[in-house]
Amino acid sequence: MRVLVLHGPNLNLLGRREPQIYGCETLAEIDAEIKCIATELSIDVESVQSNHEGVLIDKVHCALEQQTDGIIINPGGLTHTSIALRDAISAVGLPVIEVHLSNVHAREPFRQHSYIAPVAIGQISGLGSLGYQLALRALHARLS
Ligand code: DQA
Repeated sequence: MRVLVLHGPNLNLLGRREPQIYGCETLAEIDAEIKCIATELSIDVESVQSNHEGVLIDKVHCALEQQTDGIIINPGGLTHTSIALRDAISAVGLPVIEVHLSNVHAREPFRQHSYIAPVAIGQISGLGSLGYQLALRALHARLS
């Protein structure tokens, strides 16, 4: 089983970016936790972070060629703006789980709309880095 984990804009700054909202863990620490669960579940996982919408879209397209079975994505701010990223997810037709560290539904009104959620199989929001681990377990259960 192969899973792609995509981290969107500004998530490279985790650890020092608004820690009261996003926590103190770095992206490298979060990726290491994901890797740990992936090993336990015998999942081949690739994690990619980009600040560029087009790079994320290209990665979603490549997922098909790379025989990826599912995608976990935290699209960051692109969640609330990117029809193009949503279209890419829709186009490849792979199961996608949307993850947010913070509870976007308890924040500013502009964060409460996701262009991605309607094309995802589910959304996890507000559970911090645990959300990624739960998403991986959920994807594994779904694909098994
Ligand atoms: C986020 C929430 C988004 O609204 C924000 O733009 C982010 C991070 C989260 O993980 O809580 O960059 O996706």
